[in-house]
Amino acid sequence: MATKRILVSDPISEKGVALLADHPELEVDVNTGLAPEELLKIIPQYDGLIVRSQTTATAEVIEAATKLKAIGRAGVGVDNIDRDAATNNGVVVMNTPTGNTISTAEHAFSLLLSLARHIPQAHGSILAGRWDRKKYQGTEVNGKRLAVIGMGRIGAEFAKRAQAFGMTVVAYDPFLSAARAEALKVELAETVDQALTGADCVTLHVPMTPDTKHIINADRIELLNKGALIVNCARGGLIDEVALAAAVKSGRIGGAALDVFENEPPTLDQAVFDSDERIIFTPHLGASTNEAQENVGIQVAEQLRDFFTQGAITNA
Ligand code: MLT
Repeated sequence: MATKRILVSDPISEKGVALLADHPELEVDVNTGLAPEELLKIIPQYDGLIVRSQTTATAEVIEAATKLKAIGRAGVGVDNIDRDAATNNGVVVMNTPTGNTISTAEHAFSLLLSLARHIPQAHGSILAGRWDRKKYQGTEVNGKRLAVIGMGRIGAEFAKRAQAFGMTVVAYDPFLSAARAEALKVELAETVDQALTGADCVTLHVPMTPDTKHIINADRIELLNKGALIVNCARGGLIDEVALAAAVKSGRIGGAALDVFENEPPTLDQAVFDSDERIIFTPHLGASTNEAQENVGIQVAEQLRDFFTQGAITNA
């Protein structure tokens, strides 16, 4: 069999790269941080492409990739891959939906606690030479009502952690059955609005699609309890950032934690950065742990290896 060439255009774990490099029928090139025009130039040489979230596999890239047969995404979301173009050009897209579940749930839950207790702001105040004990009085999460929007793997893991901290959980997910909700000991909401009504905290765990864009908007913010906290470790476009910034500034919302942005990296002129510290940020770190990166790196490499050597199509 002719050697298949795979381009790894975003960093993945060394074990994942080694798994491909060690296979006699595969050749792997790791070439990260490529500008879009550089990717366009080299992509015609490759049969396979592995990305995380920095590379955007646009229709232009996929059309230029005349030999390309498979794209592997080391992560869950495939919104950085033009799937229509992939389908039209006979390119298989595979993701690794299980490898970073725990890491992302842990990060999102850490953000909720950080918000409730103003931890990043208090840390910054110490470094600035202040001792602001009154300013950073927080709230307990114990006894609060949490709305989980999207009760897939990550949402369910977040809910478990919230329950362990004494929170009541209401969940909305179009695929959540009554039996599964009962097993997870969460209240099942029929609609997003129902889940948000009267919630003290919200966490988002849905993919970015035309239906979920701005799923949290000005009207929906009004359904939450005054001073509610919002966490987004899923995708930036899920929240109308202008509406969020206004609600935080007016005090309608107590604070928000954003790991993701509509455009990444964001620019500091965006409304959310003018919130008097009531919105806290991390740079898309949900899946950034040693464990998750090893899991997804190995999984995506196995998927591409099995695709090129056995014709197998899997989403790990
Ligand atoms: C995902 O969709 O799984 C995350 O965005 C992963 C990542 O940060 O690469």
